[in-house]
Amino acid sequence: MNQELMVRLFRAIDGDVSDDIVKIAHKIIDDEQQKGHAKLADKLKSILNANIAGHLNFRKELKTILPQGINIPTDKRNNVPLASTVERDHLRHEMVLPKDVETKIARIEKEFVARERLSHFGLKPRQKVLFYGAPGCGKSMSAERIAWNIGLPFLKVRFEAIISSYLGESASNLKKLFESIKNYPCVLLLDEFDFIAKSRSSVNEVGEMHRIVNILLNLLEDYEAPGILVATTNLEGAIDQALFRRFDDIIEIPKPGNEEIKRLLKKTLSAVEVSSDVNWDQLANEMIGLSAALVVKTGKDAAKTAVIKGERVVDRHHITQALNENIQHK
Ligand SMILES: Nc1ncnc2c1ncn2[C@@H]1O[C@H](COP(=O)(O)OP(=O)(O)OP(=O)(O)O)[C@@H](O)[C@H]1O
Ligand SMILES: [Mg+2]
Repeated sequence: MNQELMVRLFRAIDGDVSDDIVKIAHKIIDDEQQKGHAKLADKLKSILNANIAGHLNFRKELKTILPQGINIPTDKRNNVPLASTVERDHLRHEMVLPKDVETKIARIEKEFVARERLSHFGLKPRQKVLFYGAPGCGKSMSAERIAWNIGLPFLKVRFEAIISSYLGESASNLKKLFESIKNYPCVLLLDEFDFIAKSRSSVNEVGEMHRIVNILLNLLEDYEAPGILVATTNLEGAIDQALFRRFDDIIEIPKPGNEEIKRLLKKTLSAVEVSSDVNWDQLANEMIGLSAALVVKTGKDAAKTAVIKGERVVDRHHITQALNENIQHK
C-alpha cells in the first residue's frame, strides 16, 4: 500500500488497545519495521498511540456519568412495571455498520459526553433519536450500544404494560414513566414505537389510542430529561410526520453491504478456525440482501455444525449449508 494511504488509514483508526483494528494496526507496524521501513513504522506508531490516547480520554469522560437509582413506575391496576431494564453486561454492543452510519451513531455518543462543554455555547446534544430500517439490521441493538458506550442505564418501554383497556390509564402510564426519568440519566428505548404512532391515522382506533399518540407527541416535544431517548421503527412511511419532526436525528440502519457481511461473518466465526477454502467475497455476494441477523445466524449455524460433527475447521461447505437453510426463511 502506498505510504500516504497507509498514514491516512491509520489516522482514521479509533479504538482501544484490545480492539481487533488496533491489533491489526500493530501487526502492520511490525511488518513495516521488518521490511526496513523504520521511519514509516515510527510515524504509524505515533499516530496509533495518539488515537488510542484520545479514545481513552473519551472513555474516562464517560465514566464520570454516574446514574442514581430509579423506581420504575408500575401500572396501577395490574402492578406490572412500565419499563424493563437490561443489565450492562447483557447489552448488545459489538456492531458492524457502514462507516457513515457508525459515524452518525458515534456522534450521538460524543455529543452526549460533551454536553456540558456544548452548553457553554448554548448548544445541546442530540437527545431524541429515531432509528428506522429493515428488520434484523441493528435498530434495537444500536440503542443498547449507545447505553453501553456511554455507560448509561438502559430502560425499554413496555408498551404492552402501558396500553391499558381503562380509559385514560394508558396516557397516565406514559406520563408517569416520563416523569420518573425526568432527573434520571438513562437511555430510554421506545422499541417498534410505530405500534403506537401508526394508530393515529387509523380510523378504526377511537378515543384512547388517539389520545395516547397526542400525549406521546407532547412528551417527545417536552422531553428535557438528562438522558437519551431512542425510538425504532421498521416503517418510515407509516410514521406520522408530526412525530418525525420531534426527533433531533433520524438515522437509517441499512442492510449490510458486501464489506459489512464479510466483517459480520468473520466476527461471528472469530472463535473457531476457518478453512482457507472459504471465499469471503463470493459468500458476501451470495448473501447480499440478507439482514445482519441472518448473516450472524448463518455464521453461528456453520460453526455449530462443525463443532457438533467434531470437525476442527469450519469450511465453505458448512457455511453454504447454513446459508441455504437460512435463505429459505429469508
Ligand atoms: N449491525 C449489526 N451488527 C452486528 N450484529 C447485528 C447487527 N444488526 C443485527 N445484528 C444481529 O441481529 C440481532 C437482531 O438485531 P436487532 O434486534 O437490533 O434488529 P432490529 O433492527 O431491531 O430488528 P427488528 O426490526 O426485527 O426489531 C442482534 O442480536 C445481532 O445478533
Ligand atoms: Mg428491534
